[in-house]
Amino acid sequence: MESTRKQLIDLLEKEKGYVSGQQLSDSLNISRTAVWKHMNELKKDGYQIEAVRKKGYKILSSPDKISGNTLQWGLETKWLGQKLIHFDQVESTQEIGHQLASQGKPHGTVVIADAQGKGRGRMARNWHSPKGKGIWMSILLRPDLPPMRAPQLTLLAATVLAKMVREKTNLHPQIKWPNDLLIDHKKVSGILTEMQAEHDQIQYVVLGIGMNVNQQLNEIPQDIRHKASSLKIESGQEWDIQQTIQSILRLFENTYDSYVEQGFEQVKKEWEHFGYRIGEEVTISTMRREWQATLIGIEPDGALRARDKDGNEEKLYSAEIHWGEGGYHA
Ligand code: BTN
Repeated sequence: MESTRKQLIDLLEKEKGYVSGQQLSDSLNISRTAVWKHMNELKKDGYQIEAVRKKGYKILSSPDKISGNTLQWGLETKWLGQKLIHFDQVESTQEIGHQLASQGKPHGTVVIADAQGKGRGRMARNWHSPKGKGIWMSILLRPDLPPMRAPQLTLLAATVLAKMVREKTNLHPQIKWPNDLLIDHKKVSGILTEMQAEHDQIQYVVLGIGMNVNQQLNEIPQDIRHKASSLKIESGQEWDIQQTIQSILRLFENTYDSYVEQGFEQVKKEWEHFGYRIGEEVTISTMRREWQATLIGIEPDGALRARDKDGNEEKLYSAEIHWGEGGYHA
């Protein structure tokens, strides 16, 4: 987003010293009073700015708290997050996403909160969302797709999260079917997709992403500590949450645009590249039987394809999978 304020920050950050009000007003083609007003807004967003008479302005430090504005300044997207709403605290960004959808907000609207009081996980589980420790965000999408293709959007989102981790670390993220992001067998992120559809058309999707970023081990609830982790625990370093959100949104937009143009094939390939235990043998229990199977990949409808020892293949929609050593049950 090339707003005046973003250009202002770019100019100040490029200069190591002071930039005069006149210089800023000339470069941005705005009045000196407008420059001064922008400076006050920046301070409200947490920038520390020094103003010295006859010298000009200098940024001393950038905010560590995130805000809608600061998130948008470094955002390199065309449509995703161009409407971005940030809250300090909400019950669940999913709920807000649904409200915004019914108010007619556009495709690509993003809701982010520092903390959630009632974060929702899949299968009516709670999602622990402590303040400032992770990414709690919902994306409103209005895809021109039939409802049966909605699971593809969840699989796509999972590949985006895996690509983000791979881009920023030398860790080996994996996706456990259908859409848990694992690092070293532990879950660091989950996706909750909720859809409103009519007839043969998706009206909208609220795609919720929960990512544990800067929790230390003792900040992960004890009952899930054996199977959950955070980017910080796995990488051994603190993450910049704002930049991480921006990277996810950039990668999401690129991946989504290619998917709309070219279809599901590339997403399927990427998902299978990251797929946890793909090509390996696991034990599967369904209502009818328990069997050994090799996981082969995913199907366009989001099912997991598995092959038994006699070569018979089966599509799984819901099954208990015994993921084996280090893993945990679906
Ligand atoms: C899962 O169970 O793996 C999915 C977790 C999804 C959590 C995210 S956090 C942002 C959004 N708001 C919610 O209440 N849930 C999703």
